[in-house]
Amino acid sequence: MPRLREFPWRATRDPWHVLISEVMLQQTNVGRVRPRFERFVALAPTPAACVDVALADLLVEWQGMGYPRRCRNIQDAARVIVERHGGEVPRDLDSLMALPGIGPYTARAILAFAFGDDAAVVDTNVARVISRVEGRAMKPRETQALADEMLPRGLSRDWNQVVMDFGATVCNARSPRCSSCPIARLCSWCGEGADPARTTAFTSRPQGRFEGSDRQARGRMMKRLTEGSVQATRVAEVMGLDDGDRAERLVESLVADGLVERVGRAYRLSEKRR
Ligand code: ADE
Repeated sequence: MPRLREFPWRATRDPWHVLISEVMLQQTNVGRVRPRFERFVALAPTPAACVDVALADLLVEWQGMGYPRRCRNIQDAARVIVERHGGEVPRDLDSLMALPGIGPYTARAILAFAFGDDAAVVDTNVARVISRVEGRAMKPRETQALADEMLPRGLSRDWNQVVMDFGATVCNARSPRCSSCPIARLCSWCGEGADPARTTAFTSRPQGRFEGSDRQARGRMMKRLTEGSVQATRVAEVMGLDDGDRAERLVESLVADGLVERVGRAYRLSEKRR
């Protein structure tokens, strides 16, 4: 019998730890998240503890996962949880979605994986499976509605993990194993003709080209800043850019995002405790 994949975030039901893992998994693959998750949790084991850590220290642990605004969002969410929810992660969709960086997908993932509540978690794997079974392309709202209907009540944690893993392995994007598929009987597609999932809208969009992008330049600067401050005159060089104006604009965007602060003639990771 195939087993569910084992991940450290599946071994916990602590809602705060599940929240952290799901924000990490929004835009970073499981292989990169795996070694980071437990260290981050050790540094910020509760929302109250997270608020007390300097953002710079959280960002050092975040290094290498990309999209560091998510790290700041986690700390902002911790502050809202402490201030409005007595330090406990709320257990309803609306309160969860009101937290910084938490959208409908992540909110449902917390309800299902931490609390075991009935919520269908439609990630790209789940959307692909449903679209193929139905035999047509679908918009996110419709996929969510169908998943909500399919979800067996009281089995949310298992069902979501099974469908996620089924989509990541058997019903994968590029070479689905239809000939040994255990639910071929239920499937409208069965690998014949155009793949209906190819045009189904997923929760995550494909990323643009990385080489030469603003994201690459910002990433280089963030990486260098985890080792210490950077003189303003050296920002373009650190980013690998010839264009000083562009470098200036990009470092200021990091400041505007609350990730970096300017102190005199140098930049450093934001020391702010929120
Ligand atoms: N298990 C729980 N949440 C998950 C996710 N977002 N991706 C993969 N496995 C998971």
